[in-house]
Amino acid sequence: MSALAGASALVLGAFVGAVPAAAAPGAGTAGAAATPPDISVTNVKQHLSDLQTIATNNGGNRAHGRAGYKASIDFVKAKLDAAGYTTTVQQFSYNGTTGYNLIADWPGGDPNQVIMSGSHLDSVTSGPGINDNGSGSAAVLETALAVSRAQFQPTKHLRFGWWGAEELGLVGSKYYVNNLPSTERSKIKGYLNFDMIGSPNPGYFVYDDDPTIEQTFKNYFAGLGVPTEIETEGDGRSDHASFKNVGIPVGGLFTGASRTKSSAQVQKWGGTTTSFDRCYHSSCDTTSNINDTALDRNSDAIAYAVWNLSAGTTTPPDGTVFENTADVTVPDNGAAVTSSVTVSGVSGNAPSNLAVGVNIVHTYIGDLVVDLIAPDGSVYNLHNRSGGSTDNINQTYTVNASSEVANGVWKLRVQDKASWDTGYINSFKLTFP
Ligand code: TRP
Ligand code: ZN
Ligand code: CA
Repeated sequence: MSALAGASALVLGAFVGAVPAAAAPGAGTAGAAATPPDISVTNVKQHLSDLQTIATNNGGNRAHGRAGYKASIDFVKAKLDAAGYTTTVQQFSYNGTTGYNLIADWPGGDPNQVIMSGSHLDSVTSGPGINDNGSGSAAVLETALAVSRAQFQPTKHLRFGWWGAEELGLVGSKYYVNNLPSTERSKIKGYLNFDMIGSPNPGYFVYDDDPTIEQTFKNYFAGLGVPTEIETEGDGRSDHASFKNVGIPVGGLFTGASRTKSSAQVQKWGGTTTSFDRCYHSSCDTTSNINDTALDRNSDAIAYAVWNLSAGTTTPPDGTVFENTADVTVPDNGAAVTSSVTVSGVSGNAPSNLAVGVNIVHTYIGDLVVDLIAPDGSVYNLHNRSGGSTDNINQTYTVNASSEVANGVWKLRVQDKASWDTGYINSFKLTFP
């Protein structure tokens, strides 16, 4: 009996990625982001040790067209099938040999909003490929298994992918996207790529691509107090490029390949001024070629991103207004006063084009400093004593508030900084575009 038989399908040349319905509705968490799990680095390392054994038993590598590659696919697939995934092996041909992608769909979620995470599973022929890219493959696998353990039911649909023949030019991932109809491509709202995330002399690099994905990863590392840098060691050198090329928003993490860590980077991350991975593409890329701390942090970052990016965001209907029309007297050359509105029922962040309507009756607007205060206290200056003796401010300001959580109390703060002329706040309103 073929290892491919069973609940899953073997697909050749057709598009892969129809979304299965949830088996049991109501389980787990829907809507707002649930707390992401702490991924066990012990479990991730066990997967790495299993991939090492596969290489050892198959001529020392897991490369395209070699027995160790197919054994790697079978290994990952068996874990996902046992965890309740709908798995598909997509076959392609390259260099006269058969290659395989493995796609795993977690049942449920909105089929029109797919969050996909992936890693290449092939190694080069010269070694077992444990950092490149057992590390990404094992961490994505463990995240998928954590989804199953939590019986996580996010708003969006979750998909995971393991790519073949990346080392020969992103062959498997290109094959996958090329065989996806454009309607299916447009349902993928984000593709997260993990290639080399346990480098032995690690840096913490975030891809500079989709701003939301990038910010999500940065937020995770900021929470740990670990500084990150933008990935620059060869943009387009991994499978995210296949998705980016067809217009899918992408992001990802990386701990460095053959490039040398600078002394400034050693200052911030520790390690030595040598290659991030001295065993890159060589026979010593074994289970000894992993920094456990980097593998642990990056694995947790994957789960954090998968949990947060798959949560629903409720955007209010276009033109929703939150307004306060109570008058507030502005004391002459005195203390600042505020008018407040409470935004509720909006999950996620405020828009990049929040319309802030300010109506202040005053006889000399050159006296006035006017600020918008976000719920967390961030200050956006709207007016700073310009306009001289002009009467009244009755204006709509556009504010990029996309780094602010939308829900909460927003304030218009007005201070009159010079004597004689006086006035009052007539109204303050926020309009969601
Ligand atoms: N698999 C990639 C390669 O062999 C590794 C790599 C190098 C990489 N630079 C990168 C992965 C930048 C992501 C981002 O070329
Ligand atoms: Zn790689
Ligand atoms: Ca005044």
